Amino acid sequence: MSTISTLQASLLRSQQLKVTTRTFHQKKKDRQPISMLTAYDYPTALSMDRAGVDSILVGDSLGMVVLGYENTLPVTMEDMLHHCKAVARGAKSALLIGDMPFMSYQVSTQEAVRNAGRFLQEGGMDAVKLEGARDRLDAIRSIVGAGIPVMGHLGLTPQSVHQLGGFRAQGKSASAAKNLLDEAYQLQEAGCFSLVLESVPAKLAEYISQELVIPTIGIGAGVGCDGQVLVTHDLLGLFDRFTPRFVKKYADLYGELDRAFSEYIDEVESHTFPAEEHSVTMNDSEWEAFLSSVNSEQ
Ligand code: KIV
Repeated sequence: MSTISTLQASLLRSQQLKVTTRTFHQKKKDRQPISMLTAYDYPTALSMDRAGVDSILVGDSLGMVVLGYENTLPVTMEDMLHHCKAVARGAKSALLIGDMPFMSYQVSTQEAVRNAGRFLQEGGMDAVKLEGARDRLDAIRSIVGAGIPVMGHLGLTPQSVHQLGGFRAQGKSASAAKNLLDEAYQLQEAGCFSLVLESVPAKLAEYISQELVIPTIGIGAGVGCDGQVLVTHDLLGLFDRFTPRFVKKYADLYGELDRAFSEYIDEVESHTFPAEEHSVTMNDSEWEAFLSSVNSEQ
Protein backbone atom coordinates (compact mmCIF):
# COMPACT_ATOMS: atom_id res chain seq x y z
CA MET A 1 0.00 0.00 0.00
CA SER A 2 1.40 3.40 -0.91
CA THR A 3 1.76 6.01 1.76
CA ILE A 4 1.06 9.68 1.02
CA SER A 5 3.25 12.50 2.24
CA THR A 6 2.03 15.16 4.64
CA LEU A 7 2.15 17.64 1.76
CA GLN A 8 0.02 15.40 -0.47
CA ALA A 9 -2.43 14.86 2.37
CA SER A 10 -2.74 18.59 2.93
CA LEU A 11 -3.19 19.17 -0.83
CA LEU A 12 -5.98 16.63 -0.88
CA ARG A 13 -7.61 18.24 2.13
CA SER A 14 -7.31 21.69 0.55
CA GLN A 15 -9.35 20.50 -2.44
CA GLN A 16 -12.29 19.98 -0.16
CA LEU A 17 -15.56 21.78 -0.67
CA LYS A 18 -16.71 24.56 1.56
CA VAL A 19 -16.97 23.42 5.18
CA THR A 20 -20.34 24.20 6.74
CA THR A 21 -22.00 23.64 10.11
CA ARG A 22 -23.40 20.42 8.60
CA THR A 23 -19.82 19.24 8.00
CA PHE A 24 -19.16 19.82 11.70
CA HIS A 25 -22.11 17.59 12.66
CA GLN A 26 -21.20 14.93 10.10
CA LYS A 27 -17.62 14.84 11.41
CA LYS A 28 -18.88 14.31 14.94
CA LYS A 29 -21.15 11.50 13.75
CA ASP A 30 -18.24 9.90 11.86
CA ARG A 31 -15.89 10.42 14.84
CA GLN A 32 -13.54 12.48 12.67
CA PRO A 33 -11.76 15.21 14.65
CA ILE A 34 -12.47 18.82 13.63
CA SER A 35 -9.45 21.14 13.21
CA MET A 36 -9.81 24.82 13.97
CA LEU A 37 -7.25 27.64 14.23
CA THR A 38 -7.40 31.37 14.78
CA ALA A 39 -6.38 33.81 12.05
CA TYR A 40 -6.49 37.57 11.85
CA ASP A 41 -5.03 38.39 8.43
CA TYR A 42 -5.10 37.46 4.74
CA PRO A 43 -1.81 35.52 4.30
CA THR A 44 -2.34 33.38 7.40
CA ALA A 45 -5.91 32.56 6.37
CA LEU A 46 -4.76 31.71 2.84
CA SER A 47 -2.08 29.35 4.13
CA MET A 48 -4.37 27.60 6.64
CA ASP A 49 -7.10 27.20 4.08
CA ARG A 50 -4.61 25.65 1.65
CA ALA A 51 -3.46 23.28 4.41
CA GLY A 52 -7.09 22.18 4.72
CA VAL A 53 -8.10 23.38 8.19
CA ASP A 54 -11.81 22.79 8.83
CA SER A 55 -12.53 26.10 10.47
CA ILE A 56 -10.92 29.49 11.05
CA LEU A 57 -11.88 31.55 14.07
CA VAL A 58 -11.21 35.27 13.92
CA GLY A 59 -10.86 35.32 17.69
CA ASP A 60 -10.95 38.39 19.88
CA SER A 61 -7.61 36.99 21.12
CA LEU A 62 -6.36 39.32 18.38
CA GLY A 63 -6.58 42.02 21.06
CA MET A 64 -3.70 40.35 22.90
CA VAL A 65 -1.61 38.65 20.20
CA VAL A 66 -1.93 41.28 17.43
CA LEU A 67 -2.94 44.55 19.08
CA GLY A 68 -0.89 44.16 22.29
CA TYR A 69 -3.65 44.68 24.89
CA GLU A 70 -3.43 43.01 28.32
CA ASN A 71 -6.70 41.14 27.70
CA THR A 72 -9.52 40.93 25.16
CA LEU A 73 -11.79 43.55 26.75
CA PRO A 74 -10.75 46.61 24.67
CA VAL A 75 -11.47 44.90 21.34
CA THR A 76 -14.27 46.62 19.40
CA MET A 77 -16.70 45.56 16.66
CA GLU A 78 -14.72 47.70 14.20
CA ASP A 79 -11.46 45.91 15.14
CA MET A 80 -13.14 42.54 14.62
CA LEU A 81 -14.74 43.42 11.28
CA HIS A 82 -11.47 44.84 9.93
CA HIS A 83 -9.68 41.53 10.60
CA CYS A 84 -12.65 39.34 9.55
CA LYS A 85 -12.67 40.99 6.11
CA ALA A 86 -8.97 40.22 5.62
CA VAL A 87 -9.45 36.58 6.64
CA ALA A 88 -12.51 36.18 4.41
CA ARG A 89 -10.45 37.37 1.41
CA GLY A 90 -7.90 34.60 2.06
CA ALA A 91 -9.99 31.57 3.04
CA LYS A 92 -12.36 29.88 0.63
CA SER A 93 -13.05 26.43 2.13
CA ALA A 94 -12.86 26.72 5.91
CA LEU A 95 -15.92 27.54 7.98
CA LEU A 96 -15.30 31.14 9.08
CA ILE A 97 -16.34 32.12 12.59
CA GLY A 98 -16.23 35.68 13.94
CA ASP A 99 -15.81 36.19 17.67
CA MET A 100 -18.27 38.69 19.11
CA PRO A 101 -16.28 41.19 21.22
CA PHE A 102 -17.00 42.28 24.79
CA MET A 103 -20.18 44.42 25.03
CA SER A 104 -21.36 43.60 21.50
CA TYR A 105 -23.96 41.07 22.73
CA GLN A 106 -24.37 41.68 26.48
CA VAL A 107 -26.36 44.94 26.46
CA SER A 108 -29.52 43.88 24.65
CA THR A 109 -30.80 41.07 22.47
CA GLN A 110 -31.51 43.55 19.69
CA GLU A 111 -27.91 44.82 19.69
CA ALA A 112 -26.64 41.24 19.81
CA VAL A 113 -28.61 40.27 16.69
CA ARG A 114 -27.57 43.42 14.82
CA ASN A 115 -23.89 42.95 15.66
CA ALA A 116 -23.98 39.23 14.82
CA GLY A 117 -25.50 40.18 11.46
CA ARG A 118 -22.62 42.58 10.76
CA PHE A 119 -20.15 39.67 11.01
CA LEU A 120 -21.92 37.98 8.08
CA GLN A 121 -22.95 41.04 6.06
CA GLU A 122 -19.76 43.10 6.41
CA GLY A 123 -17.13 40.71 7.75
CA GLY A 124 -17.73 37.80 5.34
CA MET A 125 -18.06 35.30 8.20
CA ASP A 126 -20.27 32.19 8.15
CA ALA A 127 -21.03 32.08 11.88
CA VAL A 128 -20.35 33.89 15.16
CA LYS A 129 -19.03 32.80 18.55
CA LEU A 130 -19.91 34.28 21.91
CA GLU A 131 -19.00 33.50 25.51
CA GLY A 132 -21.20 32.33 28.40
CA ALA A 133 -24.52 30.58 28.88
CA ARG A 134 -27.28 31.46 31.38
CA ASP A 135 -27.48 35.23 30.79
CA ARG A 136 -26.80 34.80 27.07
CA LEU A 137 -29.51 32.32 26.13
CA ASP A 138 -32.03 34.93 24.91
CA ALA A 139 -29.39 36.55 22.71
CA ILE A 140 -28.29 33.17 21.33
CA ARG A 141 -31.88 32.13 20.53
CA SER A 142 -32.52 35.42 18.75
CA ILE A 143 -29.29 35.29 16.73
CA VAL A 144 -30.00 31.70 15.71
CA GLY A 145 -33.59 32.78 14.96
CA ALA A 146 -32.18 35.35 12.53
CA GLY A 147 -30.51 32.52 10.63
CA ILE A 148 -26.99 33.06 12.00
CA PRO A 149 -25.13 29.98 13.28
CA VAL A 150 -23.75 30.46 16.80
CA MET A 151 -20.82 28.70 18.46
CA GLY A 152 -20.87 28.77 22.28
CA HIS A 153 -17.84 29.11 24.56
CA LEU A 154 -17.66 27.74 28.12
CA GLY A 155 -15.00 27.18 30.79
CA LEU A 156 -12.34 29.87 30.81
CA THR A 157 -14.19 32.70 29.09
CA PRO A 158 -11.57 35.45 28.69
CA GLN A 159 -14.12 38.30 28.51
CA SER A 160 -15.01 37.47 32.15
CA VAL A 161 -11.36 37.50 33.26
CA HIS A 162 -12.05 39.94 36.12
CA GLN A 163 -15.05 37.92 37.35
CA LEU A 164 -13.04 34.67 37.17
CA GLY A 165 -10.11 36.24 39.06
CA GLY A 166 -7.62 35.70 36.24
CA PHE A 167 -6.94 33.34 33.35
CA ARG A 168 -7.48 30.12 35.32
CA ALA A 169 -8.82 26.64 34.62
CA GLN A 170 -12.54 26.11 35.27
CA GLY A 171 -14.82 23.24 36.29
CA LYS A 172 -12.36 21.61 38.67
CA SER A 173 -14.74 20.99 41.59
CA ALA A 174 -17.70 18.61 41.43
CA SER A 175 -20.21 21.48 41.63
CA ALA A 176 -18.38 23.60 39.04
CA ALA A 177 -18.22 20.58 36.73
CA LYS A 178 -21.97 19.97 37.14
CA ASN A 179 -22.63 23.65 36.43
CA LEU A 180 -20.56 23.44 33.24
CA LEU A 181 -22.43 20.36 32.06
CA ASP A 182 -25.77 22.12 32.69
CA GLU A 183 -24.58 25.15 30.74
CA ALA A 184 -23.45 22.97 27.85
CA TYR A 185 -26.95 21.45 27.65
CA GLN A 186 -28.46 24.95 27.76
CA LEU A 187 -26.31 26.13 24.85
CA GLN A 188 -27.25 23.07 22.83
CA GLU A 189 -30.94 23.64 23.54
CA ALA A 190 -30.63 27.34 22.67
CA GLY A 191 -29.47 26.32 19.20
CA CYS A 192 -25.67 26.54 19.22
CA PHE A 193 -24.23 24.40 16.42
CA SER A 194 -20.99 23.78 18.35
CA LEU A 195 -19.25 24.72 21.55
CA VAL A 196 -15.71 25.71 22.60
CA LEU A 197 -14.54 24.25 25.92
CA GLU A 198 -11.55 26.20 27.21
CA SER A 199 -9.25 25.19 30.08
CA VAL A 200 -11.43 22.54 31.70
CA PRO A 201 -10.38 19.10 33.00
CA ALA A 202 -9.90 16.61 30.17
CA LYS A 203 -12.24 14.02 31.68
CA LEU A 204 -15.01 16.58 32.11
CA ALA A 205 -14.58 17.80 28.50
CA GLU A 206 -14.75 14.21 27.26
CA TYR A 207 -17.87 13.53 29.33
CA ILE A 208 -19.60 16.66 28.00
CA SER A 209 -18.56 15.80 24.44
CA GLN A 210 -20.12 12.34 24.75
CA GLU A 211 -23.32 13.76 26.24
CA LEU A 212 -23.89 16.45 23.60
CA VAL A 213 -25.16 15.98 20.07
CA ILE A 214 -23.32 19.11 18.91
CA PRO A 215 -19.53 18.96 18.48
CA THR A 216 -17.22 20.37 21.15
CA ILE A 217 -13.99 22.13 20.21
CA GLY A 218 -11.38 22.01 22.95
CA ILE A 219 -8.55 24.34 23.88
CA GLY A 220 -6.73 23.11 26.96
CA ALA A 221 -9.51 20.54 27.35
CA GLY A 222 -7.82 17.28 26.39
CA VAL A 223 -8.11 14.90 23.50
CA GLY A 224 -11.67 13.76 24.24
CA CYS A 225 -13.29 16.77 22.54
CA ASP A 226 -14.71 16.47 19.02
CA GLY A 227 -12.18 18.97 17.70
CA GLN A 228 -9.30 21.19 18.73
CA VAL A 229 -8.49 24.89 18.40
CA LEU A 230 -5.32 26.82 19.21
CA VAL A 231 -4.44 30.49 19.02
CA THR A 232 -2.18 30.52 15.97
CA HIS A 233 0.34 32.97 17.45
CA ASP A 234 0.86 30.48 20.31
CA LEU A 235 1.22 27.52 17.93
CA LEU A 236 3.75 29.40 15.78
CA GLY A 237 5.72 30.69 18.77
CA LEU A 238 4.87 34.27 17.75
CA PHE A 239 3.50 35.47 21.08
CA ASP A 240 6.30 35.74 23.59
CA ARG A 241 4.52 37.35 26.56
CA PHE A 242 2.80 34.27 27.93
CA THR A 243 2.32 30.67 26.82
CA PRO A 244 -0.46 28.61 28.43
CA ARG A 245 0.54 25.10 29.55
CA PHE A 246 -1.80 23.48 27.01
CA VAL A 247 -0.09 25.08 24.01
CA LYS A 248 2.16 23.01 21.78
CA LYS A 249 4.56 25.19 19.79
CA TYR A 250 4.89 23.88 16.24
CA ALA A 251 7.41 26.58 15.28
CA ASP A 252 9.56 29.30 16.83
CA LEU A 253 8.71 32.23 14.58
CA TYR A 254 9.51 34.78 17.26
CA GLY A 255 13.10 33.51 17.33
CA GLU A 256 13.11 33.47 13.53
CA LEU A 257 11.87 37.10 13.40
CA ASP A 258 14.62 38.16 15.84
CA ARG A 259 17.21 36.43 13.67
CA ALA A 260 15.95 37.90 10.40
CA PHE A 261 15.63 41.47 11.71
CA SER A 262 19.12 41.39 13.32
CA GLU A 263 20.65 40.00 10.13
CA TYR A 264 18.97 42.72 8.04
CA ILE A 265 20.22 45.50 10.34
CA ASP A 266 23.77 44.04 10.30
CA GLU A 267 23.74 43.84 6.50
CA VAL A 268 22.45 47.40 6.09
CA GLU A 269 25.12 48.66 8.49
CA SER A 270 27.89 46.71 6.74
CA HIS A 271 26.69 47.69 3.22
CA THR A 272 26.16 44.03 2.28
CA PHE A 273 22.50 44.68 1.56
CA PRO A 274 21.36 45.51 -1.08
CA ALA A 275 23.74 43.43 -3.24
CA GLU A 276 23.95 43.82 -7.01
CA GLU A 277 21.15 41.31 -7.62
CA HIS A 278 18.78 43.42 -5.52
CA SER A 279 19.55 46.63 -7.47
CA VAL A 280 18.09 48.13 -10.64
CA THR A 281 20.66 48.23 -13.49
CA MET A 282 21.15 50.81 -16.25
CA ASN A 283 22.66 50.36 -19.66
CA ASP A 284 26.31 51.70 -19.79
CA SER A 285 25.66 53.79 -22.92
CA GLU A 286 22.57 55.41 -21.29
CA TRP A 287 24.67 56.15 -18.23
CA GLU A 288 27.46 57.75 -20.30
CA ALA A 289 24.87 59.82 -22.15
CA PHE A 290 23.38 60.93 -18.86
CA LEU A 291 26.79 61.95 -17.48
CA SER A 292 27.70 63.92 -20.56
CA SER A 293 24.33 65.70 -20.59
CA VAL A 294 24.84 66.69 -16.96
CA ASN A 295 28.45 67.74 -17.58
CA SER A 296 27.55 69.81 -20.66
CA GLU A 297 25.13 71.88 -18.55
CA GLN A 298 27.86 72.79 -16.04
O1 KIV B 1 -10.45 34.49 20.92
C1 KIV B 1 -10.06 33.34 20.69
O2 KIV B 1 -9.06 33.12 19.99
C2 KIV B 1 -10.82 32.24 21.26
C3 KIV B 1 -10.21 30.87 21.20
C4 KIV B 1 -9.17 30.77 22.24
C5 KIV B 1 -11.22 29.81 21.32
O3 KIV B 1 -11.86 32.44 21.77
